Amino acid sequence: MNLAIIGAQWGDEGKGKIVDLIAPHFDIVARYQGGHNAGHTVIIRRNGEDQKFVLHLIPSGITHPGKTCVIGNGVVVHPGALLTEIDELRAKGIEVTAANLLISNRAHLILPHHIALDRAIEASRGNSAVGTTMRGIGPAYEEKMARRGIRAGDLTDAAGLVEKLAHNAKQANRLLAMFGSDLIDEKQLIADGLRWSELLAPHVTDTTYFLNHATRDGKSLLLEGAQATMLDIDHGTYPFVTSSNSSVGGACTGAGIPPSAINATIGVIKAYTTRVGGGPFPTELNDALGEAIRAKGGEYGASTGRPRRTGWFDAVVARYAVMVNGLDALALTKLDVLDDLDELKICVAYKINGQVTEQVPYDADQMNAAEPVYETMPGWQSNTVGISNFDDLPERAQQYLARLSEVSGAPFAFISTGAERNETIISADVLSRCGLHLTV
Ligand code: IMP
Repeated sequence: MNLAIIGAQWGDEGKGKIVDLIAPHFDIVARYQGGHNAGHTVIIRRNGEDQKFVLHLIPSGITHPGKTCVIGNGVVVHPGALLTEIDELRAKGIEVTAANLLISNRAHLILPHHIALDRAIEASRGNSAVGTTMRGIGPAYEEKMARRGIRAGDLTDAAGLVEKLAHNAKQANRLLAMFGSDLIDEKQLIADGLRWSELLAPHVTDTTYFLNHATRDGKSLLLEGAQATMLDIDHGTYPFVTSSNSSVGGACTGAGIPPSAINATIGVIKAYTTRVGGGPFPTELNDALGEAIRAKGGEYGASTGRPRRTGWFDAVVARYAVMVNGLDALALTKLDVLDDLDELKICVAYKINGQVTEQVPYDADQMNAAEPVYETMPGWQSNTVGISNFDDLPERAQQYLARLSEVSGAPFAFISTGAERNETIISADVLSRCGLHLTV
């Protein structure tokens, strides 16, 4: 059984918690797109205390002993960030070895000039800046598509790497000079490259064969999406998106597995909506309520610390994510953040230039012009933190969830009521209808 976990909104839905929760039931956990722009927060009780892990590149499965974690070919890897993450995990007693962390030899590297270019390009956009995480993601994928990139496989051949880095630095400096940015020090880049090669080469392998052979031999695979459907380069609110396919299609191209290998797909979605960076957000709350949700939900970027924009649940977005990814079920997170509210709104359609539509427009300007058409429901105004039984939820919370599921078009396999693993309502019934017979 192979399962993909996908963000169903604009990211930060809590994918890390859901992946961490079900990872024990899989043999392999793989990332397939994005880079260290992602920030998957996992809170685990170890040795009697809560430990917080924020993972940027390494699949969230790493905290579980005995799992193989794969950084697939579709990921862009910043070698320095990866080494720091490995060191931090080891310092917390998590084992990271060449046997449990594999990096695809086809994955492209993020180099210092990608970060410099990310900054320069964002600055040149002025008011229409994307609000990137400044991690060099876009420029690294640009170089990959332009067939000029350096790949993790190059780390396994030191002499070839030196040659490629020298050539790459010269080309990069031409581009940086155009933007008036500081140039790359070629010698330093080569010295860094040789260090990355020494430390990371043991992890680099052909993960395409590894994943296909392992799944053929009956091993189970959990595909961990980063970012989300509305940030997908093709299907999101372009150009206010990331530079990879963060919807389910990316799992095939970014891991090198066929669509038939994915048995089920679960979308992670918050009980409300957030987004970081620029771009349209029809249900955004630019008021005290939006601020209260941000404060209660701790809505600050796990990678950048930026405050997240907050708003009501958007069922137009949810239905789109269900459609584009063929979601079998949803995992709803952060229900408890809405505990205090006296009423809740659900956006069921948009009004754009006087026309009501239930579809996500392709154009960011139209999406910007979208006025949400809301349904209003009464709040439950009682504490749901930690509830792990659906029947123990206040009746109004149950009604809100039933309506969200109805307007989104998918059942809830998980409802999260807190950060910890056990603060989750699990529907064994929905999971088994997805073909997942997990006793979580
Ligand atoms: P980039 O991926 O750094 O190029 O940023 C492009 C857009 O995606 C920006 O709006 C970012 O805020 C957003 N973004 C990238 N990664 C994440 C994430 O992990 N969570 C939420 N938003 C993200």
